[in-house]
Amino acid sequence: MTNAEAYDRGFAHLSSHTVGPLLATARENGAPRLLDVGCGTGVVTAAALALGAEVTAVDADPVMLELTARRHPYATIRPAVLPDLPFEDEVFDAIAGNFVINHVPETDRALKELRRVLRPGGTLALTWWKADEMTATSVFAEAITAARIPYEPPPRPFSGNDTPRRFVALLEEAGFARAAVDTMRWRHHVDLAAWWTDVVQAGGPRFGMIGRQPPEIRERIRAHYDRLAAPYAREGFPVCAYLAHAVR
Ligand SMILES: C[S@@+](CC[C@H](N)C(=O)[O-])C[C@H]1O[C@@H](n2cnc3c(N)ncnc32)[C@H](O)[C@@H]1O
Repeated sequence: MTNAEAYDRGFAHLSSHTVGPLLATARENGAPRLLDVGCGTGVVTAAALALGAEVTAVDADPVMLELTARRHPYATIRPAVLPDLPFEDEVFDAIAGNFVINHVPETDRALKELRRVLRPGGTLALTWWKADEMTATSVFAEAITAARIPYEPPPRPFSGNDTPRRFVALLEEAGFARAAVDTMRWRHHVDLAAWWTDVVQAGGPRFGMIGRQPPEIRERIRAHYDRLAAPYAREGFPVCAYLAHAVR
């Protein structure tokens, strides 16, 4: 199984929860030409195609793009690394980015670039996680710490911009109108053993290090994960995301 396939089974299942509200907001004007930015394995692309949109999907990761291209031959797939986009001005009616803006350096420049490729009146919708309410992932960081393994997670470049107030200000500075941020909370219901396997195998920047540990250390982390995750087996992990939307 590739990292992208593990991502698809685990994280994409978690992030698919916001696809409905994201697309409802992004496609408020019913307009057809949609950019799925940071498409990953294509959860937004799939839903947008089903709604009849003409979808262009971009991502920085060629393995993700390859999987999305294979699954969704009716979408246009392009490599792109925000804050830059390989498109002419004003070519999209709507842009949807599900959990990508939190990975992008230079949020302000990325928002200006997203605005550039939107036509006047076009809509933007972006989601990101509320990091301090993400039990579904913080349980891994807690397990690593409880196992007394040195852990230096990568810095979060987005953390200075991740509050609704700050993000609305950034959208307005980039030239967007009607900027607002909604909050979504839900429970992530998942088999705890499958969640462990999928998160570790996805090999992401925060928890990929678990898979690189020697087996005895991995088992130590796993034992703490089992203990810390057990209270959520029935009710699911509490998670929280923001949905920002604005109009050009
Ligand atoms: C958390 S995943 C979300 C994927 C998908 N939107 C979903 O909802 O499942 C973040 C995606 O953003 C991509 N990404 C990260 N940084 C990026 C950047 N600077 N420009 C474009 N894509 C980026 C990653 O490769 C990954 O596929």
